[in-house]
Amino acid sequence: MNIYQKFKRFKFTIDKLDFNLIKNCLVKPYIFTNHDDCLGIDLETNKSIQNALYCNFLSIKMQQRFENACCHKSSLIKAFGKSLLKRDDLVILDATSGFGNDSIELAAKAKKVIMLEKSKIVYALLQDGLERLKSALEQELESNEKIIKDTLQVEMLSLNLDFQAYARSSQKDINNIDIIYLDPMYPKDDKKTALNKKYMQYLQDLTFNSAKDSELLDLALSIAKHRIILKRPLHAEILYPKKLCYQVKSKLVRYDVYLPS
Ligand SMILES: C[S@@+](CC[C@H](N)C(=O)[O-])C[C@H]1O[C@@H](n2cnc3c(N)ncnc32)[C@H](O)[C@@H]1O
Repeated sequence: MNIYQKFKRFKFTIDKLDFNLIKNCLVKPYIFTNHDDCLGIDLETNKSIQNALYCNFLSIKMQQRFENACCHKSSLIKAFGKSLLKRDDLVILDATSGFGNDSIELAAKAKKVIMLEKSKIVYALLQDGLERLKSALEQELESNEKIIKDTLQVEMLSLNLDFQAYARSSQKDINNIDIIYLDPMYPKDDKKTALNKKYMQYLQDLTFNSAKDSELLDLALSIAKHRIILKRPLHAEILYPKKLCYQVKSKLVRYDVYLPS
């Protein structure tokens, strides 16, 4: 059985973006690629398909991350704190979901994960990755229906939406969000970030922060019911030292945890 379904049954609602409307949004030196029905982006100069960037929730690495999160071995999940770790019915907003890697970890402890991504290009890749995960799990569901019928279900809702626009909208979940997770782009000149990683480089080039980190945090503080988890470079300044509740550190990053105002 697939590792995801061993722990949770995923129910997807994927906000559909028409690829025809965005295919001209990508500017040089980047191009869209499509190999094995998998949407990616790459530098137009790259010759090997192995260099393309795409969302792959079916990779062993991603499945391992999900399993670790289910067993509370992930720093992000530890940041929930003891009381929330006992729960697996949380509504979690990943307000800057990017390629959705952290959203998958969050799903380990959630009843619902709402994924917001404002960039159309990044969202197109996210949508493609989620669609492929969805169809892979559906195929397995058919053959394993009896085995997994009692497994907990998690709803995954993905929206091509800015966090501020989401907060202004009358989405039904807005008053029901237990945790907000924020992972905004690190500043370009921050030498301690993982800029050497291809995926961070592409993200830096293709996206931008429309709001300051402090504005996102202020908004999150006014919405979340229990926790706001802000991912920061390990040695970055603390945004609101007086309001900070606790921190969880891993080798490369830090999770600053705030309680709602
Ligand atoms: C560092 S990436 C997130 C990576 C993500 N945590 C992952 O696991 O793949 C930050 C993303 O947040 C998006 N973003 C930045 N500001 C946003 C906002 N106000 N609302 C929604 N998305 C935003 C950017 O477009 C970018 O894709």
